[in-house]
Amino acid sequence: MPMNLDITPMSERHLDAVLEIERSSFISPWSRDLFVQELETEIGQSFIAVLAGGDVQTVAGYLCSWVAADECNILKLACHPCYRRRGIGTLLLERGLREAWRKGARVVSLEVRQSNISAVSFYSACGFAPAGQRKGYYHETGEDAIVMLLHLGEGFADAERKLP
Ligand SMILES: CC(C)(COP(=O)(O)OP(=O)(O)OC[C@H]1O[C@@H](n2cnc3c(N)ncnc32)[C@H](O)[C@@H]1OP(=O)(O)O)[C@@H](O)C(=O)NCCC(=O)NCCS
Repeated sequence: MPMNLDITPMSERHLDAVLEIERSSFISPWSRDLFVQELETEIGQSFIAVLAGGDVQTVAGYLCSWVAADECNILKLACHPCYRRRGIGTLLLERGLREAWRKGARVVSLEVRQSNISAVSFYSACGFAPAGQRKGYYHETGEDAIVMLLHLGEGFADAERKLP
């Protein structure tokens, strides 16, 4: 059956599916309360990727970010392990960045675990560059974070495909 992908704002009714992906994706997963808090944050913007095939809808991934002044910070981006390497992470990021641009963001930052080679490769493929390190950022393991930045150029809003 053909599948359609839709990127749409996250709401509390998506949290069961989001938490399942969260727990299979991160060493220190966020709790439901943290996601609820995130949905209530004024500067927050969260999206989910929904796959629809017939009557069945599946949450395949999600993105949580903050936009304040000209900065966007990516807090969370994850795809269900069964739906990785299909371009869904890129589509979620594009949607988040398009909204962030509309709200005035011109630079995007994120922290990623040094050991998370696949995420570093993903963000590099999306145009982010390493911009520094935060020593011992992940307190539960003491691991360093790599800070990555993406500057949204003037053509960003007009480009049909936003990311490389
Ligand atoms: C990071 C993540 C969101 C990427 O989502 P995705 O939908 O699989 O990514 P895409 O299919 O859009 O990948 C786009 C490009 O990124 C790069 N990339 C993605 N995953 C990669 C991997 N595991 N290894 C190397 N490169 C990778 C590739 O260049 C890829 O293009 P290609 O498939 O044509 O080679 C996903 O791997 C994930 O959920 N990881 C666990 C959670 C996590 O670590 N999140 C990031 C920290 S917040």
